[in-house]
Amino acid sequence: MSKNYQIIIPQKLEPAKKAYHDFALDVLIGLSESPKKLPSKYLYDTIGSEVFQEITELPEYYLTRCEHEILEEHKEEIAEIAGNEQFNLVELGPGDGRKTKVILEYFQAMQLDFQYAPIDISEDALKGLIATMNGFFPQLEIEGLVSDYFEGIKCLSAMRRCRNFVLFLGSNIGNFNPSETRVFLHRLWNALNHGDHVLIGFDLKKDVDMLLNAYNDSNGVTASFNLNLLNRINQEMGGNFRLDHFQHYETYDVFSGAMESYLVSKEAQSVYIEKLQQSFCFQAWEPIHTESSYKYLESDIILLAKETGFAIEAHFFDAQHYFADSLWRVEKVLQK
Ligand code: AVJ
Repeated sequence: MSKNYQIIIPQKLEPAKKAYHDFALDVLIGLSESPKKLPSKYLYDTIGSEVFQEITELPEYYLTRCEHEILEEHKEEIAEIAGNEQFNLVELGPGDGRKTKVILEYFQAMQLDFQYAPIDISEDALKGLIATMNGFFPQLEIEGLVSDYFEGIKCLSAMRRCRNFVLFLGSNIGNFNPSETRVFLHRLWNALNHGDHVLIGFDLKKDVDMLLNAYNDSNGVTASFNLNLLNRINQEMGGNFRLDHFQHYETYDVFSGAMESYLVSKEAQSVYIEKLQQSFCFQAWEPIHTESSYKYLESDIILLAKETGFAIEAHFFDAQHYFADSLWRVEKVLQK
C-alpha cells in the first residue's frame, strides 16, 4: 500500500543565508511600515563597524572615553568580584574591544582563571577582534561566537560548566527600548546561574546639547554611519537609494531619555530594491527611524536590576558622571 501523505521538515538555512534572509525581511517590513524604520543592528556591516570605531574617537562622542576611564579606575574592584574560581568572561557586542583590553590585561596580570567568549553578529568584526586580542594576549583562551545576543546567550547557557561574568559595555543596552530592555535582561538572567555576574554600561542623562552633539558630530562621521545603512541595502540587496537625497537627523526626547536617529527623505522619491522586487515611495521629509540610544538616571538602573532578578554589587562612574558601569549579580534564590 502506498502512502498518500508526506511529512516535510524544512532544513534550516545556513547562518550566512539566514542572516541575509532576516535582513531582507526586516528591510521589507520596516520600509512598509508607517512610520518607516530600519533596525539599528544592521548599521554594523564591515564599513559600519569601521565608521563606528571612528565615532568612538570623536571629541563629541564622550561615551567610549568615559567607560575606558571607569574600567581603568575600577578594574581592581571588578577583578575582586570576578573572583579566583574559573569563569567564562562573556562579552556581548565587543566591537574592537579597546575597553575590554583594560579588563583582560588586568585579569591576566592577577592570574584569574578565565576564558574570553566574545559574541558578535558581525563575523568580520569578531574575526578582527580575536586576531587583535590574540596578538595582545597570546596566552588568552578565546572562544568567539558569531550570533546575535540571544542566540549567543542560549549557546552560553549550554556551556554551563563554570561561572559566567558577562560584559555588556558601551551603552549597547541603550539601543533597546524599555520593554526590549526588560525582555533582554530576563533572558540574560534565565541563561545564567545563581551567583553569575554582569557588568553593563549605561549612558547617563545629561546636558541635552552635549547629547545632541555626540550624535551629530561636526565632521559628519555619525551622519555617514547612519547613511551607510542605505548604502548597505544598495550593496547587498540591489537597492538604488541615493544617499545625497537623505539627511541624517537627531532628536532627544528628554522624557523617555532616547536619542533618536533618523534618515529623512529630502524630496519625494521612489526607491527600488531588486532583492525585494519592490519599490518604496518616500514623501518629501518623510523619516526612516534607524536607532534609539536610551539614556538613564541612576534610579532607572537600580529599578531595572531589581525588576529583572539581579542584585546590584556596585556602581562605577567616571569623574564627570557622564557614564555608569553597573555590576550585577544573578539572584536565583527566592527573596521575600
Ligand atoms: C554602539 C549602540 C552604543 O548608541 O551610542 C553611536 C551607536 N550611534 N553614534 C550609541 C551609535 C550613533 C552607539 N552604541
